[in-house]
Amino acid sequence: MKKAMFIFLIVALAFSFAACAPKSSSAGGGGGQPSIGVTIYKFDDTFMSYVRNNIQSNAAGKANVDVVDSQNSQPMQNDQVDAFISRKVNSMAINSVDRTAAASIIEKARGANIPVVFFNREPMPEDMASWDKVYYVGAKAEESGTMQGSIAVDWWLANKGKDQVLRYIMLRGEPGHQDAELRREYAIKAVTDAGIKVECLAEDYANWDRPKAVEKMDAFWAQFGDRIDMVFANNDDMALGAIESLKNVGFFQGGRYMPVLGVDATAPALAALEEGTLLGTVLNDADNQGKATFDLAFALATGNSASSAGWTISDGKYIWVPYQKVTIDNYRQYMK
Ligand code: GAL
Repeated sequence: MKKAMFIFLIVALAFSFAACAPKSSSAGGGGGQPSIGVTIYKFDDTFMSYVRNNIQSNAAGKANVDVVDSQNSQPMQNDQVDAFISRKVNSMAINSVDRTAAASIIEKARGANIPVVFFNREPMPEDMASWDKVYYVGAKAEESGTMQGSIAVDWWLANKGKDQVLRYIMLRGEPGHQDAELRREYAIKAVTDAGIKVECLAEDYANWDRPKAVEKMDAFWAQFGDRIDMVFANNDDMALGAIESLKNVGFFQGGRYMPVLGVDATAPALAALEEGTLLGTVLNDADNQGKATFDLAFALATGNSASSAGWTISDGKYIWVPYQKVTIDNYRQYMK
């Protein structure tokens, strides 16, 4: 009897040890899948919500991806990164709030030896060079500016001609963002390179945001009225804001037209192209940016090389996803 009791106790003990044993050696991951911490600068951004959805759909069944909203606050994002590090995620994908904050994020990641993929907000080259486990997925901002400018050139030459000065409004993204700075510069460069003289009536930041762009455009219209020939916007949400404002003063009806240009090719922008309000946009390829971000973060999380992620890695650290010009001639192929 005693012996049977002893055997029972041994077996029960063995089971209780097994129950306490660590579940998986892949730190932070449940069910053996690697874990990836993802921050988005703010969820309330149309284009970034497309990228976010693509990261999540690509991760399904392969990795535990924890995507958090940094609510446009760098201190909040820093805390989120600290939390990922203390949970020992296997890699991180960071859409920084302030791209100059990359240096301190890299330092922390390096201390814990957790590879980092930045995306959409490009860190400074010196930060990118500071550690060999830092990567960037994005698009060449200047390319989108050049494409937007070339749509403007085609319209101007067909409707006004080279001899007229093009007076424009520029709605900018946000200070310091590579896409805001370079789209502004290269869109206008494409116009002047085509031999068209320009005059900037006004430009201002509307932070990628539609309601802010409505406000700005209302004020620009009040100030410049019919002197405005064209509106360039660093993204579609702001272009749609400008269109909304212009509709309120009678545009896009009874033959009154104003060329307005955006970037991103969001669903509402494609609808505006179809209805004839938006003149053109540039595809900012959220599907491929989201997929490349996940594929790379996943390869690194599983201890594989960046080049095994299936994308071309430039300069050892960058995946560049190309832009595409979108006009009335080809917009249908981008509708989902
Ligand atoms: C840009 C995009 C904007 C905005 C921004 C956020 O690439 O065109 O619409 O999403 O990224 O960083």
